[in-house]
Amino acid sequence: MDSLFSLLPPGSATDSDGMLLVEGCRADALAAEFGTPVMVVSETALRARAREYADELTSRWAKSRVVFASKAFPCTAVQRVMVEEGLGLDVAGGGEILTAIKAGVDPEKVVLHGNAKSDEEIAMAVEHRLGLVVVDNSDDVDRLESTVPSGRQQDVLVRIIPGVTADTHASVLTGHEGSKFGLSPAMARTLIARIEASPKLTMRGLHVHVGSQILEVGPFAESVAPVAALGEFPVYDLGGGLGARYTWVDQPPPVGDYLDALIGAAREHLPAEAELIIEPGRSMVASAAMTLYRVVTVKRGVITFVAVDGGMGDNLEVALFDQRFEAGLADRIDVDTTDAEFVTVVGRHCESGDVLVDGVRLPDARVGDLLAVPTTGAYCYTMSNNYNGNRRIPVVFARDEKARLVVRRETWEDLRSRDVE
Ligand SMILES: Cc1ncc(COP(=O)(O)O)c(C=O)c1O
Repeated sequence: MDSLFSLLPPGSATDSDGMLLVEGCRADALAAEFGTPVMVVSETALRARAREYADELTSRWAKSRVVFASKAFPCTAVQRVMVEEGLGLDVAGGGEILTAIKAGVDPEKVVLHGNAKSDEEIAMAVEHRLGLVVVDNSDDVDRLESTVPSGRQQDVLVRIIPGVTADTHASVLTGHEGSKFGLSPAMARTLIARIEASPKLTMRGLHVHVGSQILEVGPFAESVAPVAALGEFPVYDLGGGLGARYTWVDQPPPVGDYLDALIGAAREHLPAEAELIIEPGRSMVASAAMTLYRVVTVKRGVITFVAVDGGMGDNLEVALFDQRFEAGLADRIDVDTTDAEFVTVVGRHCESGDVLVDGVRLPDARVGDLLAVPTTGAYCYTMSNNYNGNRRIPVVFARDEKARLVVRRETWEDLRSRDVE
């Protein structure tokens, strides 16, 4: 079996006493300083991946840009890293617009999504002069036309359903016929004609997104022709969706292979002078982070349950779409676990479905141990919640042997203060 280091943030190692190091920061020191659970992000890994994406894309299609799908990790510090590395930001809600602005993004480089954008979100997009609004339905057009001031124009893309499916969980498929996102080609044609006649909107191009955690390149390439069939435009946004490596068996295609397929299809079907945008989320951030938990109790019965101080409050990916994660004890990462006890790692929430790792070998787990769960950088922060009065967990950036808090843990007062009666 692979070592957990192949899943932990690149550059992770062990100290002389066996304790896990992330970017030179000891796991026990991180836990002591910031408490547990805590999400630890390798800032170097985050930046390296952003550069890899940008370089690989522009080397294949010069007039192109990467926008980070903020929804995968929508905190200001992560968005700021992407901005500093020259990327734009895709946002899908009012809060993501605000943190993007706080992160210092050039609003012109922001792409707004959403299948049910509110009046308020459309107003925010117009107020902040976001570069592109992706129209998902005719109500978006109504709202934009009544919000954009006279004499101004808002650039838009139209989201197309390509009718493409992929081998991933149904909950994260978006490009199949019957998807709630986007328009069928026939409906899109009608809406494009309306936008082209609008005095307030500029029809810039088309958008397509097949889904998430896709571990094959075929569906991405297949999604291009249905878009091209709608005509020639200056901009094509080909979405995100590349999968991340969560477990030993996952073998996501390298960014280069994914782009070979996608850009190969673009060369075949799209105008050579068009601008291409891609919007990776999960594959940009998942592997840059891990979550550290404290073991609270170990129950050895028919099954050995190792229960930690977090769970579905900080990682909903398991319950939501059966995503498997791996885990290791922070001071025994190097230990051979071939014959170690087979346990189920569970969280502290009042649901039997609150399982973090359904079957993993851990060497003699004890109360007080630190448990490291790799690959938590995507959508875990996003979907963290207050189930059972859980305080959402902090995010720490580690770099060059230093750790800094970028999102604080929620306080009891934060929780109390929302209840106005
Ligand atoms: C429109 C759009 N773009 C990009 C993404 C990012 O996808 P992923 O995080 O799988 O790369 C999503 C997420 O589903 C999306 O809905």
